[in-house]
Amino acid sequence: MPRGAGGHNRPLNNKGLMVTKERGVLIVFEGIDGTGKSTQISLLEKFLRQGGWQVSATREPTAGYFGQRIRDLYRNRHNVTPEEECELFLSDRREHVDKCINPALASGKIVLCDRYFLSTAAYQGAAGLDPQMIIERNQFAPEPDLAFIFEISAEESIRRITHSRGEQPNDFEQLDSLKEVDKLFRSFNLPYIRRIDGTQAIEQVSKQILFHTVRLLDERYGTGPQ
Ligand code: TYD
Repeated sequence: MPRGAGGHNRPLNNKGLMVTKERGVLIVFEGIDGTGKSTQISLLEKFLRQGGWQVSATREPTAGYFGQRIRDLYRNRHNVTPEEECELFLSDRREHVDKCINPALASGKIVLCDRYFLSTAAYQGAAGLDPQMIIERNQFAPEPDLAFIFEISAEESIRRITHSRGEQPNDFEQLDSLKEVDKLFRSFNLPYIRRIDGTQAIEQVSKQILFHTVRLLDERYGTGPQ
């Protein structure tokens, strides 16, 4: 595991072996809109960098060609079918995996990704597609080591978008569909999922995220950030 300049005191794992050739780890943040994912990603990124780890923080939809086309749908979702919408998210992810996620993992970085394929399974699942089929179509995408699913109610999500952010909910952020999305997120059962109660205070949530992350790094490399 390559370290940044701050990783001076932990070049070896607890078995005394150099840890330079291992794949990095992929930690993804999922949940309906307004759950606090980006705040927690920033906090975790800062914590890891201070511990000397090399981190790549990224997001979907990306800023690339397909990500831009997806953003064009925020106020025009009715212009595409659920199938077409799903294809856009898959194309965006393929590009993201090839250009960003896989290279970062190959160089041993900790990749923090704001939304990943469980978002496609939940949102495009709520739009009428089969969530299981969507997960299977994402086999090109490396499996996360940890997927945090942040849980708040759909009503709270809308409240945070309108009151805290002062925004108008877009076409992906309508109450009835968010209820469906939330239900699907709560139904997923995969070994790497950790559920986080997003109604807790930021510090409480952060503690839980750090706990799971440190445990993962410890299991993987025999040494976690201190
Ligand atoms: P969001 O995280 O809000 O991105 P940004 O803040 O950069 O605009 O994601 C945009 C919307 O896209 C959000 O409502 C969830 C939805 N989405 C899907 O429907 N499917 C997907 O696969 C992903 C990644 C996002």
